[in-house]
Amino acid sequence: MVDNIYRTRSLGVGSVGLPDQYADGKAAKVWQLYIGDTRSRTDEYRSAVVQLLRQHKCQRILDVACGTGVDSIMLVEEGFTMVSADASDKMLKYALKERWDRRKEAAFDKWVIEEANWLTLPKDIQKPGDGFDAVICLGNSFAHLPDIKGDQSEQKLALTNIASMVKPGGILIIDHRNYDAILETGHAPKGKNIYYKSDLTRDINTSVLYVNNKPHMVTLDYTVHVPNQDSDGQPDVSTFRLSYYPHRVDHFTALLKNAFQGKCEHNLYGDFKPHKPGKDHAPCYFIHVVKRTG
Ligand SMILES: C[S@@+](CC[C@H](N)C(=O)[O-])C[C@H]1O[C@@H](n2cnc3c(N)ncnc32)[C@H](O)[C@@H]1O
Repeated sequence: MVDNIYRTRSLGVGSVGLPDQYADGKAAKVWQLYIGDTRSRTDEYRSAVVQLLRQHKCQRILDVACGTGVDSIMLVEEGFTMVSADASDKMLKYALKERWDRRKEAAFDKWVIEEANWLTLPKDIQKPGDGFDAVICLGNSFAHLPDIKGDQSEQKLALTNIASMVKPGGILIIDHRNYDAILETGHAPKGKNIYYKSDLTRDINTSVLYVNNKPHMVTLDYTVHVPNQDSDGQPDVSTFRLSYYPHRVDHFTALLKNAFQGKCEHNLYGDFKPHKPGKDHAPCYFIHVVKRTG
Protein backbone atom coordinates (compact mmCIF):
# COMPACT_ATOMS: atom_id res chain seq x y z
CA MET A 1 0.00 0.00 0.00
CA VAL A 2 2.64 2.47 1.07
CA ASP A 3 4.70 1.50 -1.98
CA ASN A 4 1.90 2.80 -4.19
CA ILE A 5 2.05 6.28 -2.80
CA TYR A 6 5.73 6.57 -2.00
CA ARG A 7 8.09 5.09 -4.52
CA THR A 8 11.52 5.69 -2.98
CA ARG A 9 14.23 6.14 -5.57
CA SER A 10 17.08 6.76 -3.15
CA LEU A 11 17.53 10.20 -4.64
CA GLY A 12 17.74 12.31 -1.51
CA VAL A 13 19.43 15.66 -1.97
CA GLY A 14 22.65 14.12 -0.64
CA SER A 15 22.81 11.47 -3.35
CA VAL A 16 23.13 14.12 -6.06
CA GLY A 17 25.89 15.84 -4.13
CA LEU A 18 23.79 18.47 -2.33
CA PRO A 19 23.14 18.70 1.39
CA ASP A 20 19.67 17.86 2.73
CA GLN A 21 19.30 20.60 5.34
CA TYR A 22 16.52 18.55 6.95
CA ALA A 23 18.49 15.27 7.12
CA ASP A 24 18.92 15.10 10.91
CA GLY A 25 15.15 15.39 11.34
CA LYS A 26 15.47 18.36 13.74
CA ALA A 27 14.66 21.12 11.27
CA ALA A 28 11.80 19.02 9.85
CA LYS A 29 10.26 18.67 13.32
CA VAL A 30 10.69 22.33 14.25
CA TRP A 31 9.59 23.44 10.75
CA GLN A 32 6.29 21.69 11.34
CA LEU A 33 5.93 23.72 14.55
CA TYR A 34 7.15 26.94 12.95
CA ILE A 35 4.55 26.88 10.18
CA GLY A 36 1.84 25.86 12.61
CA ASP A 37 -0.48 22.93 12.00
CA THR A 38 -1.48 21.98 8.49
CA ARG A 39 -4.55 24.21 8.65
CA SER A 40 -2.42 27.19 9.56
CA ARG A 41 -1.59 28.71 6.22
CA THR A 42 -3.36 32.04 6.46
CA ASP A 43 -6.77 32.34 4.80
CA GLU A 44 -5.31 35.07 2.60
CA TYR A 45 -2.59 32.69 1.38
CA ARG A 46 -5.00 29.81 0.89
CA SER A 47 -7.49 31.82 -1.14
CA ALA A 48 -4.75 33.47 -3.23
CA VAL A 49 -3.23 30.13 -4.28
CA VAL A 50 -6.62 28.48 -4.87
CA GLN A 51 -7.86 31.49 -6.86
CA LEU A 52 -4.77 31.49 -9.10
CA LEU A 53 -5.18 27.77 -9.81
CA ARG A 54 -8.93 28.06 -10.50
CA GLN A 55 -8.46 31.19 -12.64
CA HIS A 56 -6.09 29.18 -14.86
CA LYS A 57 -8.46 26.16 -14.84
CA CYS A 58 -5.90 23.90 -13.22
CA GLN A 59 -6.92 20.54 -11.76
CA ARG A 60 -3.85 18.29 -11.84
CA ILE A 61 -1.10 19.84 -9.74
CA LEU A 62 2.51 18.86 -9.03
CA ASP A 63 3.97 20.25 -5.78
CA VAL A 64 7.73 19.88 -6.28
CA ALA A 65 8.64 21.01 -2.73
CA CYS A 66 5.86 19.60 -0.61
CA GLY A 67 8.00 19.33 2.54
CA THR A 68 5.73 18.27 5.39
CA GLY A 69 2.77 18.64 3.02
CA VAL A 70 1.24 21.93 4.11
CA ASP A 71 0.28 23.24 0.63
CA SER A 72 -0.56 19.83 -0.78
CA ILE A 73 -2.92 18.98 2.08
CA MET A 74 -4.65 22.32 1.62
CA LEU A 75 -5.06 21.64 -2.12
CA VAL A 76 -6.22 18.03 -1.67
CA GLU A 77 -8.87 19.44 0.69
CA GLU A 78 -9.83 21.98 -1.99
CA GLY A 79 -10.45 19.18 -4.49
CA PHE A 80 -7.31 19.36 -6.65
CA THR A 81 -5.60 16.19 -7.87
CA MET A 82 -2.18 16.28 -6.25
CA VAL A 83 1.19 14.70 -6.92
CA SER A 84 3.54 15.85 -4.19
CA ALA A 85 7.31 15.49 -4.19
CA ASP A 86 10.29 16.43 -2.09
CA ALA A 87 13.92 15.34 -1.83
CA SER A 88 13.90 15.00 1.95
CA ASP A 89 12.48 11.80 3.41
CA LYS A 90 12.54 13.46 6.84
CA MET A 91 10.08 16.08 5.56
CA LEU A 92 8.00 13.60 3.51
CA LYS A 93 7.48 11.50 6.61
CA TYR A 94 4.98 14.10 7.92
CA ALA A 95 3.09 14.27 4.61
CA LEU A 96 2.94 10.47 4.46
CA LYS A 97 1.57 10.27 7.99
CA GLU A 98 -1.22 12.74 7.18
CA ARG A 99 -2.08 10.80 4.05
CA TRP A 100 -2.18 7.56 6.00
CA ASP A 101 -4.28 9.02 8.82
CA ARG A 102 -6.83 10.39 6.32
CA ARG A 103 -6.72 7.51 3.80
CA LYS A 104 -10.44 6.82 4.30
CA GLU A 105 -11.23 10.19 2.68
CA ALA A 106 -11.33 9.47 -1.08
CA ALA A 107 -9.35 12.60 -1.96
CA PHE A 108 -6.50 11.58 0.37
CA ASP A 109 -6.51 7.99 -0.87
CA LYS A 110 -5.77 9.35 -4.37
CA TRP A 111 -2.97 11.65 -3.17
CA VAL A 112 0.36 10.57 -4.70
CA ILE A 113 3.57 11.28 -2.78
CA GLU A 114 7.00 10.72 -4.34
CA GLU A 115 10.60 11.27 -3.32
CA ALA A 116 12.10 13.41 -6.09
CA ASN A 117 14.91 15.86 -6.63
CA TRP A 118 14.63 18.90 -8.91
CA LEU A 119 17.97 17.96 -10.47
CA THR A 120 16.62 14.60 -11.63
CA LEU A 121 12.91 15.43 -11.82
CA PRO A 122 12.10 13.98 -15.29
CA LYS A 123 13.47 10.61 -14.08
CA ASP A 124 11.80 10.81 -10.67
CA ILE A 125 8.30 11.93 -11.67
CA GLN A 126 6.13 10.46 -14.37
CA LYS A 127 4.66 13.34 -16.35
CA PRO A 128 0.98 12.85 -17.27
CA GLY A 129 0.67 13.30 -21.07
CA ASP A 130 2.12 16.69 -21.98
CA GLY A 131 2.40 17.81 -18.39
CA PHE A 132 0.66 19.05 -15.26
CA ASP A 133 -1.89 21.90 -15.34
CA ALA A 134 0.21 23.60 -12.67
CA VAL A 135 3.46 23.08 -10.83
CA ILE A 136 3.96 24.78 -7.48
CA CYS A 137 7.21 25.38 -5.61
CA LEU A 138 6.30 27.47 -2.56
CA GLY A 139 7.48 28.40 0.92
CA ASN A 140 10.84 29.86 -0.21
CA SER A 141 11.85 26.35 -1.26
CA PHE A 142 13.78 27.00 -4.48
CA ALA A 143 16.25 29.20 -2.59
CA HIS A 144 17.36 26.03 -0.74
CA LEU A 145 19.33 25.04 -3.85
CA PRO A 146 22.83 26.46 -3.45
CA ASP A 147 25.14 27.60 -6.26
CA ILE A 148 27.95 25.17 -5.60
CA LYS A 149 29.76 25.64 -8.94
CA GLY A 150 29.43 29.44 -8.90
CA ASP A 151 27.73 29.58 -12.32
CA GLN A 152 24.14 28.85 -11.28
CA SER A 153 24.21 25.82 -13.59
CA GLU A 154 22.41 23.60 -11.07
CA GLN A 155 19.73 26.21 -10.44
CA LYS A 156 19.23 26.54 -14.22
CA LEU A 157 18.99 22.76 -14.61
CA ALA A 158 16.51 22.53 -11.73
CA LEU A 159 14.32 25.30 -13.19
CA THR A 160 14.41 23.70 -16.66
CA ASN A 161 13.36 20.38 -15.12
CA ILE A 162 10.58 22.02 -13.11
CA ALA A 163 9.35 23.97 -16.18
CA SER A 164 9.37 20.75 -18.24
CA MET A 165 6.59 19.41 -16.00
CA VAL A 166 4.19 22.25 -16.98
CA LYS A 167 1.90 21.50 -19.93
CA PRO A 168 1.38 24.10 -22.71
CA GLY A 169 -1.13 26.61 -21.32
CA GLY A 170 -0.28 25.47 -17.76
CA ILE A 171 1.38 27.54 -15.04
CA LEU A 172 4.31 27.44 -12.66
CA ILE A 173 3.88 29.21 -9.31
CA ILE A 174 7.23 29.67 -7.60
CA ASP A 175 8.24 32.03 -4.81
CA HIS A 176 11.19 33.32 -2.82
CA ARG A 177 11.69 35.68 0.07
CA ASN A 178 12.38 39.29 -0.79
CA TYR A 179 16.17 38.89 -0.93
CA ASP A 180 16.56 42.34 -2.55
CA ALA A 181 15.28 43.83 0.70
CA ILE A 182 17.24 41.40 2.88
CA LEU A 183 20.50 42.27 1.08
CA GLU A 184 19.75 45.99 1.26
CA THR A 185 18.74 46.17 4.91
CA GLY A 186 20.32 43.07 6.49
CA HIS A 187 17.01 41.68 7.66
CA ALA A 188 13.72 40.33 6.28
CA PRO A 189 10.96 42.95 5.72
CA LYS A 190 8.93 43.45 8.88
CA GLY A 191 5.50 43.31 7.18
CA LYS A 192 2.82 40.78 8.02
CA ASN A 193 3.83 37.25 7.06
CA ILE A 194 0.89 36.08 4.98
CA TYR A 195 2.29 32.56 4.75
CA TYR A 196 2.31 31.41 8.34
CA LYS A 197 0.08 32.00 11.29
CA SER A 198 1.92 29.92 13.83
CA ASP A 199 1.38 31.63 17.17
CA LEU A 200 4.65 30.37 18.61
CA THR A 201 6.81 33.36 19.48
CA ARG A 202 9.89 33.38 17.34
CA ASP A 203 12.89 35.37 16.19
CA ILE A 204 14.77 35.13 12.93
CA ASN A 205 18.41 36.26 12.83
CA THR A 206 19.87 36.96 9.41
CA SER A 207 23.49 36.61 8.20
CA VAL A 208 24.76 37.20 4.67
CA LEU A 209 27.85 35.48 3.23
CA TYR A 210 29.65 37.27 0.38
CA VAL A 211 31.98 35.41 -2.00
CA ASN A 212 34.10 37.52 -4.37
CA ASN A 213 32.02 40.54 -3.41
CA LYS A 214 28.79 38.83 -4.45
CA PRO A 215 26.06 37.74 -2.00
CA HIS A 216 26.29 33.95 -2.06
CA MET A 217 24.26 32.72 0.88
CA VAL A 218 21.75 34.04 3.40
CA THR A 219 21.50 32.14 6.67
CA LEU A 220 18.39 32.44 8.81
CA ASP A 221 18.53 31.28 12.43
CA TYR A 222 14.99 30.57 13.59
CA THR A 223 14.08 30.53 17.28
CA VAL A 224 10.79 28.82 18.05
CA HIS A 225 9.12 28.46 21.44
CA VAL A 226 7.92 24.88 21.55
CA PRO A 227 5.04 24.24 23.98
CA ASN A 228 6.20 22.00 26.81
CA GLN A 229 3.56 19.57 28.00
CA ASP A 230 5.56 17.96 30.83
CA SER A 231 6.85 19.76 33.87
CA ASP A 232 6.49 23.48 34.59
CA GLY A 233 4.59 24.38 31.44
CA GLN A 234 7.39 26.76 30.39
CA PRO A 235 8.01 26.55 26.63
CA ASP A 236 11.25 24.97 25.38
CA VAL A 237 13.29 27.13 23.08
CA SER A 238 14.25 25.35 19.90
CA THR A 239 16.49 26.74 17.20
CA PHE A 240 17.25 25.66 13.69
CA ARG A 241 19.29 27.15 10.89
CA LEU A 242 18.51 27.15 7.17
CA SER A 243 20.68 28.60 4.40
CA TYR A 244 19.40 30.02 1.15
CA TYR A 245 20.67 31.33 -2.15
CA PRO A 246 19.59 35.00 -2.27
CA HIS A 247 17.73 35.29 -5.59
CA ARG A 248 17.22 38.88 -6.70
CA VAL A 249 13.82 39.32 -8.26
CA ASP A 250 14.91 40.62 -11.69
CA HIS A 251 17.60 38.01 -12.15
CA PHE A 252 15.29 35.24 -11.00
CA THR A 253 12.66 36.42 -13.50
CA ALA A 254 15.28 36.10 -16.26
CA LEU A 255 16.21 32.58 -15.08
CA LEU A 256 12.55 31.59 -15.21
CA LYS A 257 12.04 32.94 -18.73
CA ASN A 258 15.13 31.01 -19.86
CA ALA A 259 13.77 27.83 -18.32
CA PHE A 260 10.71 28.22 -20.58
CA GLN A 261 12.94 29.22 -23.54
CA GLY A 262 11.05 32.51 -23.66
CA LYS A 263 7.77 30.75 -24.50
CA CYS A 264 5.90 32.09 -21.51
CA GLU A 265 3.99 34.96 -19.91
CA HIS A 266 5.37 36.10 -16.59
CA ASN A 267 3.46 37.86 -13.80
CA LEU A 268 4.99 39.01 -10.55
CA TYR A 269 3.19 39.27 -7.22
CA GLY A 270 4.38 40.68 -3.90
CA ASP A 271 2.71 38.79 -1.06
CA PHE A 272 0.16 37.65 -3.69
CA LYS A 273 -0.77 41.19 -4.82
CA PRO A 274 0.23 42.29 -8.36
CA HIS A 275 3.66 43.90 -7.88
CA LYS A 276 4.57 47.26 -9.38
CA PRO A 277 8.35 47.69 -9.12
CA GLY A 278 9.45 50.72 -7.10
CA LYS A 279 5.92 51.66 -6.01
CA ASP A 280 4.96 49.08 -3.41
CA HIS A 281 6.24 48.74 0.13
CA ALA A 282 8.71 45.86 0.38
CA PRO A 283 6.77 42.59 0.31
CA CYS A 284 8.01 39.64 2.40
CA TYR A 285 7.70 37.23 -0.53
CA PHE A 286 7.80 37.46 -4.30
CA ILE A 287 5.56 35.02 -6.15
CA HIS A 288 6.20 34.42 -9.85
CA VAL A 289 3.40 33.00 -12.01
CA VAL A 290 4.72 31.76 -15.34
CA LYS A 291 2.32 30.52 -18.02
CA ARG A 292 3.75 28.22 -20.71
CA THR A 293 2.68 29.59 -24.09
CA GLY A 294 4.41 27.06 -26.36
C1 LIG B 1 11.09 25.37 3.44
S1 LIG B 1 10.63 23.78 2.95
C2 LIG B 1 9.05 24.23 2.32
C3 LIG B 1 8.11 23.11 2.24
C4 LIG B 1 6.65 23.53 1.98
N1 LIG B 1 6.47 23.96 0.59
C5 LIG B 1 6.23 24.63 2.94
O1 LIG B 1 5.99 25.75 2.51
O2 LIG B 1 6.17 24.35 4.14
C6 LIG B 1 11.61 23.55 1.50
C7 LIG B 1 11.57 22.14 0.93
O3 LIG B 1 12.35 22.09 -0.28
C8 LIG B 1 12.94 20.79 -0.35
N2 LIG B 1 14.09 20.78 -1.26
C9 LIG B 1 15.26 21.45 -1.13
N3 LIG B 1 16.08 21.16 -2.15
C10 LIG B 1 15.41 20.28 -2.96
C11 LIG B 1 15.72 19.63 -4.18
N4 LIG B 1 16.92 19.80 -4.78
N5 LIG B 1 14.80 18.83 -4.74
C12 LIG B 1 13.58 18.65 -4.14
N6 LIG B 1 13.23 19.24 -2.97
C13 LIG B 1 14.14 20.04 -2.39
C14 LIG B 1 13.35 20.54 1.09
O4 LIG B 1 13.60 19.17 1.32
C15 LIG B 1 12.19 21.12 1.88
O5 LIG B 1 11.22 20.15 2.20
